[in-house]
Amino acid sequence: MKTLYIFSGIFLLGLIFSLGNADPVDDKQALLEFVSHLPHLHPINWDKDSPVCNNWTGVTCSDDKSQVISVRLPGVGFQGAIPPNTLSRLSALQILSLRSNRISGFFPSDFVNLKNLTFLYLQYNDFVGSLPSDFSVWKNLTIINLSNNRFNGSIPNSISNLTSLQALNLATNSLSGEIPDLQLSSLQQLNLSHNNLSGSMPKSLLRFPPSVFSGNNITFETSPLPPALSPSFPPYPKPRNSRKIGEMALLGIIVAACALGLVAFAFLLIVCCSKRKGGDGFSGKLQKGGMSPEKGIPGSQDANNRLIFFDGCNFVFDLEDLLRASAEVLGKGTFGTTYKAILEDATTVVVKRLKEVSVGKREFEQQMEVVGNIRHENVVELRAYYHSKDEKLMVYDYYSLGSVSTILHGKRGGDRMPLDWDTRLRIALGAARGIARIHAENGGKFVHGNIKSSNIFLNARGYGCVSDLGLTTVMSPLAPPISRAAGYRAPEVTDTRKASQSSDVYSFGVVLLELLTGKSPIHATGGDEVIHLVRWVHSVVREEWTAEVFDVELMRYPNIEEEMVEMLQIAMGCVIRMPDQRPKMPDVVRLIENVRHTDTDNRSSFETRSEGSTPLPTTVGTYSSPSQ
Ligand SMILES: *[C@@H]1O[C@H](CO)[C@@H](O)[C@H](O)[C@H]1NC(C)=O
Ligand SMILES: *[C@@H]1O[C@H](CO)[C@@H](O)[C@H](O)[C@H]1NC(C)=O
Ligand SMILES: *[C@@H]1O[C@H](CO)[C@@H](O)[C@H](O)[C@H]1NC(C)=O
Ligand SMILES: *[C@@H]1O[C@H](CO)[C@@H](O)[C@H](O)[C@H]1NC(C)=O
Ligand SMILES: *[C@@H]1O[C@H](CO)[C@@H](O)[C@H](O)[C@H]1NC(C)=O
Ligand SMILES: *[C@@H]1O[C@H](CO)[C@@H](O)[C@H](O)[C@H]1NC(C)=O
Ligand SMILES: *[C@@H]1O[C@H](CO)[C@@H](O)[C@H](O)[C@H]1NC(C)=O
Ligand SMILES: *[C@@H]1O[C@H](CO)[C@@H](O)[C@H](O)[C@H]1NC(C)=O
Ligand SMILES: *[C@@H]1O[C@H](CO)[C@@H](O)[C@H](O)[C@H]1NC(C)=O
Repeated sequence: MKTLYIFSGIFLLGLIFSLGNADPVDDKQALLEFVSHLPHLHPINWDKDSPVCNNWTGVTCSDDKSQVISVRLPGVGFQGAIPPNTLSRLSALQILSLRSNRISGFFPSDFVNLKNLTFLYLQYNDFVGSLPSDFSVWKNLTIINLSNNRFNGSIPNSISNLTSLQALNLATNSLSGEIPDLQLSSLQQLNLSHNNLSGSMPKSLLRFPPSVFSGNNITFETSPLPPALSPSFPPYPKPRNSRKIGEMALLGIIVAACALGLVAFAFLLIVCCSKRKGGDGFSGKLQKGGMSPEKGIPGSQDANNRLIFFDGCNFVFDLEDLLRASAEVLGKGTFGTTYKAILEDATTVVVKRLKEVSVGKREFEQQMEVVGNIRHENVVELRAYYHSKDEKLMVYDYYSLGSVSTILHGKRGGDRMPLDWDTRLRIALGAARGIARIHAENGGKFVHGNIKSSNIFLNARGYGCVSDLGLTTVMSPLAPPISRAAGYRAPEVTDTRKASQSSDVYSFGVVLLELLTGKSPIHATGGDEVIHLVRWVHSVVREEWTAEVFDVELMRYPNIEEEMVEMLQIAMGCVIRMPDQRPKMPDVVRLIENVRHTDTDNRSSFETRSEGSTPLPTTVGTYSSPSQ
């Protein structure tokens, strides 16, 4: 009897406790175990003392807060296998997104317990092994995205049991064998490209375009005929019950229209409120400094537009948050004004507001997609963008040290940190690698178009990191002489839209000269005369005063002259007048990598030193701390 009392006492206590802060206790425990057993690069604010349902990033509960129904942790930097018996205990889980991490191991077998799973996003991870053989345990699965992993084996037949399935993406894995005959009328999106699938195309899938099967060895028995000539297998068969679908579509349109109305209304409310708060917000800034003040705030016109984030971005804010952020002008650049925006949760981002975009929405979006999908430690990541009729915004990470231009040409003496030679080498090497990566994009044809020291930043390891790429093709051309970018522009470029990879190399050469001389690419002497850095260096070198070229600030470091001369030669090679005589970016990278190798026998001395294993003579260490 006593034990019974104790038990019910504990039970009651537990009940009171769980009602008190309305927290799903078991689910919380499961999540804590999950996150504590899976290493991650970025912090997650899952504090055991704060309520799961309100305060934990990426977690959503059911309406009555009794269970967790969605977990979204894209791009948190998870590494390793999903710890068993953790996530699988979230018995009511409907949405799971762990995309864009580095999760490895097999598809967790205990996920069979997640009977309510509806949306599953695991793309861009390192999963291996075969897919679960029995998909029919997840009756409600609607979207499956397992693309860009290393799953192998065959596509299980049981997928054809998923009657709610609308989207199946298994692209870019190592799946082999034949494609099962998926008789799924609900399926609207399919992508099986870039696997090792073979055999013939099942008839049920002929309604999908051939591109979703590309990168496999599949024979299309009937489809090589143009649709009109193959009456037996029209590629896009009419839905069997078109009337019903018509009604559904109509309903969808009505629902969507209502939702849109609501969103627009909410938007106006927010905009009004933030205006009343005192115009210091980003929206106020946009209006004040704006080109079209009467048109005002982005989004107020097309409320269906929103910030488009890229895969792997774990920012949690939207356009409204951005508009409410406090903002300060960082600079007016070639293509528009750049703001520093501090959001309510202290997230700091850089927002670039583009002046004159000359292309339509589609083309703009395509270009943004290319830019946003370049992931490289030496390329500043585009996190999100926004496009409406009146506003085009780009959202980047904020670099607290400012650009290389600021660091190099900021007020000398005083607080300014002198830039030692090692740091300059790292800036040069990083930027070169970043540009080489950019040039590899789009089948090796992508152009940066606006390389200058104010578009180069220092990444966490103190290496150069390039920003502002790929804008020349979407912007109106700039008249050549006026722009500040002129000092970086290759002589053959008369129209900014005609920038090429070799003109990028030229601009990069000017940046190298800037790093070596400490001088701006164009600077005025006392009188009216304007000095062009490239011409000046040429003249000095011609007169054999080479040593005069270098920044006096560098003179205090011993034994670097040879390296500086070598770097000067690389720079001079980049700024050769004839475009086709300039080196290609990968060659430039190799040349810079070799600068430090010439006088040491340890090939990687430069690289290892930069990791901070050996203390450097100056305060380079502070570069790795963004809070400084
Ligand atoms: C939860 O978040 C709210 C605001 O989002 C905050 O005021 C509160 O202190 C947080 N609670 C805990 C326990 O962290
Ligand atoms: C699955 O979701 C439904 C509501 O959509 C709910 O009634 C049911 O209890 C859930 N199943 C589990 C195991 O939580
Ligand atoms: C699936 O969805 C339906 C309707 O949304 C719901 O009633 C059901 O509980 C869900 N779960 C399972 C396992 O069928
Ligand atoms: C799939 O990969 C795993 C490990 O990566 C390997 O052991 C297995 O043999 C592979 N299976 C197939 C069918 O290739
Ligand atoms: C579909 O589900 C039924 C019952 O759950 C099962 O008997 C059948 O084998 C499944 N079909 C496939 C192709 O797995
Ligand atoms: C799956 O992920 C890929 C890559 O992120 C994305 O392009 C695609 O839109 C996703 N598909 C679905 C159906 O969510
Ligand atoms: C399918 O996936 C491939 C590779 O991820 C991608 O290039 C292609 O655009 C996708 N196709 C469709 C129709 O989504
Ligand atoms: C693709 O499958 C064939 C057999 O169908 C196999 O010989 C080949 O090694 C596979 N290639 C890869 C890259 O897995
Ligand atoms: C493609 O498949 C056919 C048979 O289906 C086979 O004869 C051929 O060698 C395969 N090609 C490749 C590149 O694997």
